[in-house]
Amino acid sequence: MCGIVGILGSKPVAIDIVDALRRLEYRGYDSAGIATVENGHLERRRAEGKLRNLETRLGTEPLSGTTGIGHTRWATHGRPIERNAHPHMNDRVAVVHNGIIENFQELREELTGKGYVFETETDTETVLHLVTYYLDQGMPPVEASRIALNRLRGAFALGLIFSDDKNLLIGARQGPPLAIGHGDGEMYLGSDAIALASLTDTITYLEDGDWAVLTRAGVQVFDLSGKTVHRTAIKSVASSLLVDKGNYRHFMLKEIHEQPEVIAHTLGNYIDMAEGAVKFPALGIDLAGVNRVTISACGTAYYAGVVAKYWIEKYARIPVEIDVASEFRYREVPLAPGGLAVFVSQSGETADTLEALRYCKKNGQVIAAIVNVRTSTIARESNTVLPTLAGPEIGVASTKAFTSQLSVLACLAIAIGRARGTIDAAKEKELVKALSEVPRHVSTMLRDESFYEGLAHEISKARDVLYLGRGVSYPIAMEGALKLKEISYIHAEGYAAGELKHGPIALIDENVPVIVVAPEDELFEKTVSNMQEVAARGGQIVLISDVAKEKAGCRLLSHIKMPKAHPFTTPLLYAVPVQLLAYHTAVVMGTDVDQPRNLAKSVTVE
Ligand code: M6R
Repeated sequence: MCGIVGILGSKPVAIDIVDALRRLEYRGYDSAGIATVENGHLERRRAEGKLRNLETRLGTEPLSGTTGIGHTRWATHGRPIERNAHPHMNDRVAVVHNGIIENFQELREELTGKGYVFETETDTETVLHLVTYYLDQGMPPVEASRIALNRLRGAFALGLIFSDDKNLLIGARQGPPLAIGHGDGEMYLGSDAIALASLTDTITYLEDGDWAVLTRAGVQVFDLSGKTVHRTAIKSVASSLLVDKGNYRHFMLKEIHEQPEVIAHTLGNYIDMAEGAVKFPALGIDLAGVNRVTISACGTAYYAGVVAKYWIEKYARIPVEIDVASEFRYREVPLAPGGLAVFVSQSGETADTLEALRYCKKNGQVIAAIVNVRTSTIARESNTVLPTLAGPEIGVASTKAFTSQLSVLACLAIAIGRARGTIDAAKEKELVKALSEVPRHVSTMLRDESFYEGLAHEISKARDVLYLGRGVSYPIAMEGALKLKEISYIHAEGYAAGELKHGPIALIDENVPVIVVAPEDELFEKTVSNMQEVAARGGQIVLISDVAKEKAGCRLLSHIKMPKAHPFTTPLLYAVPVQLLAYHTAVVMGTDVDQPRNLAKSVTVE
């Protein structure tokens, strides 16, 4: 979950490394650092906090080397202080690392016993001393690196440079992604192609277990035994994906406002509007014969999967198993071969989701991936990729990726229902028409946000906030709570409205806002009863619903009036007010909306 960069350049590389790191800040922003080779020795600058602190440092203490590595950190082992910031180096080697070295304790003891002195709390420092140990045994850098890499366990992407060879950069991948960029007399290494987009559009993706020797003349890729492996260079479209905030104050707000467009775009990929039918790609499985679907994902993508469970079970009448990937991957779930397994991920790099996918693959499932990054590892390891066409999502809080994921999953539910005969052509037309109206509704809802600004002032005073929903609105309640807590740091929980009385109701008093997600569907009246229970205990209710506020039957702190829509599409619509409420509350609280503390956009460690 850190970002790494390496450049073998023809001019000083520090500025280009900073530029590449800026595009990797989504992976972490606890500290940043750069090391370059200068006249046969290594020089380094590091700074705690965001990249701009490192830039300030480089302004007064520049680096002039033409070979360098850089890092933006999301802390795992060791506090986010300058001493623990990468690169880690001595007078022979400098290393940047994304991931976790699982056997670092054991290696640390061994290397300490050999006289190497550890200065940081990081697992990465073991790599530094391990490579140095083999160099000290007289091995050349490439061989020393190969032997050291063979001794590492865990998930990692690494970049290494050496003081006595400014024409050498070593990269290694076991787990987290790593891309090689090809330039004209220059070579690059980056955690993704977007990092390298201003330098090159010719990219080679390393596969798991690969390591690469880069010189200014090109790259050689090897497996761990040292055998050469061939990896094709491809033209990347990453440069066309570079984005800015436009006129918006934050990326998150811009991305919320992009939803009408990206939902329409994504739906357009899976729906024939003229025919009123889904046009789903072949999944390599006969959907008519599918009798169980497994879904796994993390965070917001998981909540999209929970919505899909309700949809698929209701409309296609087959059971759906869903779990967060971090649990699923270790549960030893029994799976009958030939089932359909669906993995949902914006980044396509989430470590737990990837491992859950691999478990399902090993157990004979047909794998479909709903991803936003088509070149991602999850996409590459799936049988079928069902892309969300959301464009790059920069804000750490996922918004447009979520509604795009819902768009694909809604079409998947219809496709399975049609194949199994639980949905006829008329019903399919009805559902497709309902979906086609979503972008217009969302657009209307985004016309005026002044209401949310006022409400956000109220919510910002709370210490705890509860979100309630029933049926398909339950995952939206959970998503609303996640959005609020991750960007405003206010404690929030999403509950199934019917569960309230089994415990959480004890939390209710006049200081606890309760956000009720309740479209007028077949469960509305039951949710109203739960609302009464909250009101009777003095809870401050914010009702998000398409009904008139009088129908609530109790006093409301606020009423967010939603457009009337088909019950099938309400998750797509009700996601928007919970995003806006979280966004405006965070703005009132003055937090870092796009890069909230302790988080990262892409979670490539477990
Ligand atoms: O890239 P992914 O969709 O796999 O990421 C999954 C979660 O890490 C992500 O949704 C996270 O929960 C977001 N910060 C939520 O806004």
